[in-house]
Amino acid sequence: MIVPSFSMERWQSHHEHRVRYNLSESGVLPLSLAELLELTGVSASDIRLGYPQTNGSDGLKRAIAALYPGAGPENVLVTAGSAEANFIALWHLLEPGDRVVVLVPAYGQTPGLAKGFGASVTTFHLEERLDWQPAPGAAAAAIGPDTRLVVITNPSNPTGSILSAQAMDEIVDACSRRGSWLLADEVYAGAEAEDPPTPSFWGRYGRTLVSGSLSKAYGLPGLRLGWILGPADQMEDLWAHKDYTSISPSAASDALATAVLQHATRHIILSRSRDIILRNRERMEEWIASCEMLGPWVRPRAGAIGMVPYRIGLSSTELADRLRRRSSVLVVPGDHFGLDGYLRIGFGGEEGELVEALARIEELLRSEAKLEADGARGVV
Ligand SMILES: Cc1ncc(COP(=O)(O)O)c(C=O)c1O
Repeated sequence: MIVPSFSMERWQSHHEHRVRYNLSESGVLPLSLAELLELTGVSASDIRLGYPQTNGSDGLKRAIAALYPGAGPENVLVTAGSAEANFIALWHLLEPGDRVVVLVPAYGQTPGLAKGFGASVTTFHLEERLDWQPAPGAAAAAIGPDTRLVVITNPSNPTGSILSAQAMDEIVDACSRRGSWLLADEVYAGAEAEDPPTPSFWGRYGRTLVSGSLSKAYGLPGLRLGWILGPADQMEDLWAHKDYTSISPSAASDALATAVLQHATRHIILSRSRDIILRNRERMEEWIASCEMLGPWVRPRAGAIGMVPYRIGLSSTELADRLRRRSSVLVVPGDHFGLDGYLRIGFGGEEGELVEALARIEELLRSEAKLEADGARGVV
């Protein structure tokens, strides 16, 4: 199996711990273990580091199922992040030659893996002019009689948009007309800035798998704790695939996640994330408004990421590379999403650090713009 390079993850893996300011991250400032133990009331000495129930402890499966109307623990498989959930979902569903339709721009994991599994991938698009929604009719046009699987990320990475009710209906209608499977990656659900909780695709159509995790809305990516929800008759086979990947969740993560998802604790953690997102999104908007080489952007509605258009002649890959090398700021080039002319900026970190990093980006943009203007005037 030849897996195409997952350019964004390669970029982050190489550089995220080697720069002064990391704005490539898509979640909020992670909680420390001490903060988490205090918030949950879990005592570290009660956690025994064995193998837990390999598809997730019963308490954790119940807590995850409670997030989705109509789901029960029999619909849940606990995974190492939504990354493993997506991997297992695609491995379970796809054969070489299958056709997969992906809503883009999107996190590169699912289209890359689908190609690796020998499927052919086609796309339909979130459009900036529609505030990053798909055009009416786009799903029906893209999803054909032989479409095996449709992959949707909602809320969206990289745009931070949330699908409208009409767009969700159109996707579900097209899948059910064709009998296609739907994989809804809902890892950013719960990270809404002002909107009510993002409605899940769960329960709307029988052939649906939903992936999620504690990485984004909960600020706990280091627990590597995710899940996949599916129809009860699919779960044994999904679980059997996990025997070949990670076997079980980490016992510590299973115990902590169970505590995180209890109603009151979950509420506190999600409120913390919302506060960070709202406060830092304001800093982003002030910055974009004050810099004539930027924007306007479509204000992201969920998650701590947004696509920021810029107006200088460099490609996004070149610009991101200069920012990394000269300013020690890591952002994700729009090129990684097939959208040159944009930077994906993660704004979920510490507020003061964000402001400093944005100032560095602006400084570099100004010096590049000056070089371009001097070049155009023939100044040497
Ligand atoms: C849309 C999407 N899905 C899945 C993941 C994987 O996240 P994790 O495995 O930490 O849940 C990411 C990470 O950025 C993502 O953006």
